[in-house]
Amino acid sequence: MCGIVGYIGRAEAVPILLDGLRRLEYRGYDSAGVAILNGEGLAVRKAVGRIANLAQVISENPAGGSLGISHTRWATHGAVTSENAHPHTDKSGRLVLVHNGVIENHQTLRTGLEEKGHIFHSQTDTEVLAHLIGAAFDRRGEKTQAALVESVREALRQVIGTYGIAVIHAAVPGVLVGARRGSPLILGVGKGEHFLASDVSAVVAHTREAVYLNDYEIVALRADGFEISTLAGSDASFEVSKVEFTAGDVDKGQYAHYMLKEIHEQPDTVRDALRGRLSAEEATAKLGGLDMTNAELREVERIVLSGCGTAFHSAMVGEYLIETLAHLPVECEFASELRYRNLPMTRDTLVFVISQSGETADTLAALRESQRKGHRTLGICNNVASTIARESDGGVYMHAGPEIGVAATKSFTSQLTIMTLLALLLGRIRHISYAEGLEIIAHLEKLPDLVARVLELESHVAAIAKKYAHSKNFLFMGRQANYPIALEAALKLKEISYIAASGYPSAELKHGVIALITEETPSVFIAPRDAVFEKNLSNIEEVKARKGPVIAVGTEGDTSLSRVADDVILIPQAPDYLTPILATIPLQLFAYYIAVELGCDVDKPRNLAKSVTVE
Ligand code: G6P
Repeated sequence: MCGIVGYIGRAEAVPILLDGLRRLEYRGYDSAGVAILNGEGLAVRKAVGRIANLAQVISENPAGGSLGISHTRWATHGAVTSENAHPHTDKSGRLVLVHNGVIENHQTLRTGLEEKGHIFHSQTDTEVLAHLIGAAFDRRGEKTQAALVESVREALRQVIGTYGIAVIHAAVPGVLVGARRGSPLILGVGKGEHFLASDVSAVVAHTREAVYLNDYEIVALRADGFEISTLAGSDASFEVSKVEFTAGDVDKGQYAHYMLKEIHEQPDTVRDALRGRLSAEEATAKLGGLDMTNAELREVERIVLSGCGTAFHSAMVGEYLIETLAHLPVECEFASELRYRNLPMTRDTLVFVISQSGETADTLAALRESQRKGHRTLGICNNVASTIARESDGGVYMHAGPEIGVAATKSFTSQLTIMTLLALLLGRIRHISYAEGLEIIAHLEKLPDLVARVLELESHVAAIAKKYAHSKNFLFMGRQANYPIALEAALKLKEISYIAASGYPSAELKHGVIALITEETPSVFIAPRDAVFEKNLSNIEEVKARKGPVIAVGTEGDTSLSRVADDVILIPQAPDYLTPILATIPLQLFAYYIAVELGCDVDKPRNLAKSVTVE
């Protein structure tokens, strides 16, 4: 949700900023801008649309210099126009600022500033920050790093809301100032140069040393050093961390899209989610990051799983798995609802928040609210340096590597793998026997190979996708743990191809949904050979009786599906608790190839952002 990149050093800033913005484009891509400071003053360039448009504007009107800030926007306040694109300037025109987050009291602040003669040029909430900091700086009169930092501090004390910001002032040409509250900001440490960014992927091509800023911290960067202080005014302690991945990990490689690359990474990412977590000796899963003894886990009587979007769908699968394997009651809550609900939670409730990015504002708020109520709250995150990973009381990392495609794919199957491990662990300390535990482990060990086999279906799935790509409406159906997979498959299709799609438990068909069935409305059934297979089969018959086209995802060796369905995709045989992972993959490919057939921008679907760091 908006991406920030800043640079101070000796190199030309523009190529570094543009490259960083391209790597952050997943955070928003409706407009972009840069501001460069050089001997002649500030040069600001903006463009509506993608980074490529901004690059074009700069090539026509170059801006040289070794200090700059830049931004890729996902609009919250104000339409997508060049005026609303960041950076924004203050009254003097000598201070520029980029911002990620939402300033909730911007209207009040704006009115106060207008009364003092400030003129605003955009409808954004951000512009008030530029004016506030600029006015504080002008009042001080001093033109030093300390004065700029103090002005940022003074302005931020008046602000209600969230921010990650980068600020430069023409009067202090050797300094770049950043601050954060609620929106991520990292500092990249180089030799004779420093970087500021929303995410390390923007700077990993230049340095693998990073400092993850905390909320209420302000950083002042120079080419040769930096200081971090708190909003209250004291020095802040920090740690320089080694970034685990390389620039190569955030490239598309041989693939046409990040989404396709990430779908293909799943044999490895599932393996990485399992790595070191299966103990044949104890016939259970080992999740050391939970930081809980078996005795403590035994005390847990109820589990709440929370997240947003795709992460919520893995919570739903988790509910089925944990209730089935561990017989523990589980409740799934959208994080956006949990944060404002007063959910009755008994003392023995354990809360998990699930988030690929670890930065989703609603999920972070759900984590904090459940901690405020005294519950141990664990995080299931991919981004190890994220706010949720740092603030949770423990958790499980996905280890899926950077996910760039806006539509989540590999992170979802990693989350499902972790849900299975959790169900095994919780089940083993209750009623799963040693022998049953070993059997589950044996199946989990084979899972990465099964995932690789499912990927061999790619050309078959692509052909089916092409056949149905021009349908206007799709229904996805499944039962039990495959019902959330129907929801996730529908979400993937909506996100990247803009086709109306909805997911239902198969049996709900007859309660209204069936009215939608026509020859033009394809239904996708997830119907592996499980305890409810026959039930799914009769739901398929109900659709066929009304001439609806049916695509069925079944189990290898099955012959009955092909007698009723128009198209069949067969996944390898596996126990019921693993079919959600295996059934997901062809449906990711199905959505992908439909979007490609329709010429959609797969990695950057309209209106979406990968990491929603505003409420
Ligand atoms: C956004 C993304 C979704 C994602 C959701 C939760 O809406 O577009 O793809 O599932 O956020 O993201 P998280 O990083 O918390 O898993």
